[in-house]
Amino acid sequence: MRTVQVPLDDRSYRILIGPDLMPQIGRQCRRLKLGGACTVITDEHVRPLYAKTVLNSLESAGFRTHLVSIPAGEPSKQLKMVHRCYNALAEARLDRRSFVVALGGGVVGDMAGFVAASYLRGVDFVQIPTTLLSQVDSSVGGKVGVNLKAGKNLVGAFYQPRLVLCDLDSLKTLPAREYRAGLAEVIKYGIIDDATLFRRLEKDMSKILSKDSSVLGSIIARCCQIKARVVGADEKEGGLRAILNYGHTIGHAIEAITRYGTFLHGEAISIGQVAAGILSRELTGFPEGEAARARHLFEITGLPTSLKLSTLQRKKLMDAMQLDKKVSEGKVKFVLASAIGSVTPGHTVDPRSVHAALDQVTS
Ligand code: GLY
Repeated sequence: MRTVQVPLDDRSYRILIGPDLMPQIGRQCRRLKLGGACTVITDEHVRPLYAKTVLNSLESAGFRTHLVSIPAGEPSKQLKMVHRCYNALAEARLDRRSFVVALGGGVVGDMAGFVAASYLRGVDFVQIPTTLLSQVDSSVGGKVGVNLKAGKNLVGAFYQPRLVLCDLDSLKTLPAREYRAGLAEVIKYGIIDDATLFRRLEKDMSKILSKDSSVLGSIIARCCQIKARVVGADEKEGGLRAILNYGHTIGHAIEAITRYGTFLHGEAISIGQVAAGILSRELTGFPEGEAARARHLFEITGLPTSLKLSTLQRKKLMDAMQLDKKVSEGKVKFVLASAIGSVTPGHTVDPRSVHAALDQVTS
């Protein structure tokens, strides 16, 4: 088992990464001296696979357990579902010393984390992310929340978990497309912070795609280390944390104009990162060869690097960028690279340059 520490003073916590970890969840929660009762929040896809193991482990460790299962998928990330969970927690008489366990991917983690952040003004929570994307990104760092009709993640909080437990075995049941989408975030860590990780991904991508556990654990741990360092330095995204949004400005806009129905998040940010690479070549001296290597890595991972856009959709895409949460004083901000392993946030980019980059990722 590998351990990564998220350094946040008295709110510091550990990320545990390894195979066969779910049966240990009860013991780990006991070690943290969490309260006597808990509610496990999961979804209808994950429940039949892992809920029994998690509940048994918690009960064997002496916890009183309850289970709430929500429909799988992005539509569950809404206030109605939060309300449903509040009622379930109240019916189970969860008090301030109780805790919530989020068992599932990013939707479950973000929604259940928001329930934990707000129920009784905050109870402890533990993340058991079961997708690659949630293991390397959304379960770490305390961003919790739900979507509104007006946009994604518009209601939420920064609320750190007490523990994150990444069981590598849960990736075995993950559909191939979702797994590849998670790899878009993994590649992102190489581009934003770690040229050695990037080279390793280039070398080992076929092993990673076959979910070879000899490489997977150390790669996930490396991604979590990078995220832990960034979050430890800038928890509330005053500056540095924005580097985690590399490729996300265009990526989020692609998701929005396709109504979250065509591309998975990881697929959209794959195209977004290719576009960010082109802008970086133009504006921050990202060497042509490195931009090409990045594009090639997304390609051999089986991720999309371009999309079809009509003139009307192109206009909608430009408009959607203006609605991004990261827009400040009307200016869209980009994270741009100067080399693989080195990026800077906060770049304002002329719309003509954005159009020129889009020309190279659209047909
Ligand atoms: N997913 C970006 C962040 O956690 O800041």
